[in-house]
Amino acid sequence: MTQTLTLALSKGRIFDETLPLLKAAGIEVLEDPETSRKLILPTNQPHVRVVLVRATDVPTYVQYGGADLGVTGLDTLIEHNSDWGGSAGSAGLYQPLDLQIAKCRMSVAVRADFDYVAKVKQGARLKVATKYVAIAREFFASKGVHVDLVKLYGSMELAPLTGLADAIVDLVSTGNTLKANHLVEVERIMDISSRLVVNPAALKMKQADIRRIIDAFSAALPAAKS
Ligand code: PRP
Repeated sequence: MTQTLTLALSKGRIFDETLPLLKAAGIEVLEDPETSRKLILPTNQPHVRVVLVRATDVPTYVQYGGADLGVTGLDTLIEHNSDWGGSAGSAGLYQPLDLQIAKCRMSVAVRADFDYVAKVKQGARLKVATKYVAIAREFFASKGVHVDLVKLYGSMELAPLTGLADAIVDLVSTGNTLKANHLVEVERIMDISSRLVVNPAALKMKQADIRRIIDAFSAALPAAKS
């Protein structure tokens, strides 16, 4: 009997940029998440389905077996693993591939009129607003900078503009959002891309199907093509 294989994706850039990889694995999603209200999308392969979840929920779905595999940003993965009290990999997720999609960077940004370098040099305590508290905590600790972290869930750019924080730690892609809000990038913390994550038990139970997908994705990556 063929077992159902469930792939967790989030709408938007990750979904769009995973489609060509799925195609390379012979999988075509039959409905468009932008027009359909369905959360479970069928594919051209009767035993493969896609579930649409919030980006931050992808590691949770895969960890608990709500999905066999998923695609998630490194930022989300680090924050998820930190909630589990450890470094990347410790939440029991197998991470076989950097898919090199949805690329961006995690950076520190401040108001253009805020002298970040001088403040850090003075040993001043910085107020930092971010959705990515684990990444921010680790980064500033490694620099020996004392910070008070303010957890936000979105629109981080607003924090330095309203006096809520001196700096933000956020994802930067084109830099347009920072620019539009008169903020400048002062440190680049890390490069971010999306990763394939797999439930270890599913890997054992559905090994052939999952291996086939990992191999097809892997062969379709830019590094493999060049
Ligand atoms: C991210 C990030 C910035 C923006 C940066 O937000 O939080 O706001 O993209 O992109 P840019 O450098 O190309 O302007 P996203 O749109 O992913 O939504 P979010 O706030 O829900 O994370």
